[in-house]
Amino acid sequence: MKLSSKIEPAEQIRVSLKERSYDILIGSDLLDAAGTLIAKGIETSKAYIVTDSNVSTHYANRLISSLNNAGIENDIIILEPGEKTKSFKVFEGLLNTIIEKGVERSNTLIALGGGVVGDITGFAASTILRGINYVQIPTTLLAQVDSSVGGKTAINSSSGKNLIGSFYQPKLVLADLRTLETLPERELLAGYAETVKYGLIGDSVFFSWLEKNGENLLKGEQSYLIHAIATSCKMKSEIVAQDEKEKGERALLNLGHTFAHALESEVGFDNHILHGEAVAIGICLAFNLSTNLGLCPISDTERVQKHFRSIGLSVEPPEHPSGEWKIDAIMKLIGLDKKVVNNHPVFILSKGIGSSFIADDVPLNEVRQLLENTFLG
Ligand code: NAD
Ligand code: GLY
Repeated sequence: MKLSSKIEPAEQIRVSLKERSYDILIGSDLLDAAGTLIAKGIETSKAYIVTDSNVSTHYANRLISSLNNAGIENDIIILEPGEKTKSFKVFEGLLNTIIEKGVERSNTLIALGGGVVGDITGFAASTILRGINYVQIPTTLLAQVDSSVGGKTAINSSSGKNLIGSFYQPKLVLADLRTLETLPERELLAGYAETVKYGLIGDSVFFSWLEKNGENLLKGEQSYLIHAIATSCKMKSEIVAQDEKEKGERALLNLGHTFAHALESEVGFDNHILHGEAVAIGICLAFNLSTNLGLCPISDTERVQKHFRSIGLSVEPPEHPSGEWKIDAIMKLIGLDKKVVNNHPVFILSKGIGSSFIADDVPLNEVRQLLENTFLG
């Protein structure tokens, strides 16, 4: 996409997927340019904004004005915030609402919000009328570094996290840094865990940079945010371009996630534990497991934990809302993970910072032992 000099994102990254290629634009105040940017790149007769009630309070009017100024007819659907929104029931309601409004194939959905809104909107776009265009406008750090890019869409099943969904790429991603100014600190930190993930899986220089600059980034300093978001999106776009449907190396992006998803499911997807918080704990479990298996130097595992702690992310699980974590239940959820092959869970392990790999032969007794030590003390 060629842009006019008036709209200058700080970074523009291409996700190269032949006819499904698209741009990620990262910058300040892109929200006000969204209408123009969408009109330029996507033929759309009408846009449906899907957002949640927290995000709409801050940003819906600006997006609507921007679409109006660009001559794009629009409508808005506001969902409840939180992980519970990624349910069959909400998904059904969302589809029916959009269909009742008279959606056509030439229309576009716009996901304005965090990963929850992005995941459910992308899934809706992939199924409405057998697939219509959608645009991601991520408003959380987690969504800007990760979930808005790569086309994984999903809702949760009662048996586990993200078990229902599709690979369906957006047409454009607009990451407006200034939207992070209203993000609660807890959510910013949760997104930071997914940012650290990129350093840990394949870029030790980025991890060292985060050790040095993470605090400034979390204070909202723009140049630091731009560097971290762009570095993460570049790595993700390269991985996705090679392995869109996770037949191989894309699974590395799931470092810590086999554990994280099990923990989130076990507490019933409420905000007792946020996705990013579960990822931080899951990453520490994956590093500990790697060290226990003699694969990763303990000094690297300790360095990861130290960094998470230093910026205020917990590396240990919180108390279970009902008083006790059940190891059998966690093991069962691990066994229902999307990455299970021939009944055996696949884990992303580490040989050290910046060097993750996919392991399909982890002894389950080692996993159980680690969980018992971590959760039951
Ligand atoms: P979220 O979407 O629930 O947003 C977090 C909270 O912040 C919500 O309460 C939301 O209303 C609020 N919020 C969002 N933007 C705001 C803003 N700018 N100002 C004020 N409040 C704001 O959570 P998330 O952490 O963005 O996303 C987590 C979800 O993303 C999980 O469901 C996870 O499975 C999914 N995910 C998907 C992918 C993918 O590749 N598709 C990758 C990682 C995570
Ligand atoms: N967040 C994992 C992926 O997109 O593959």
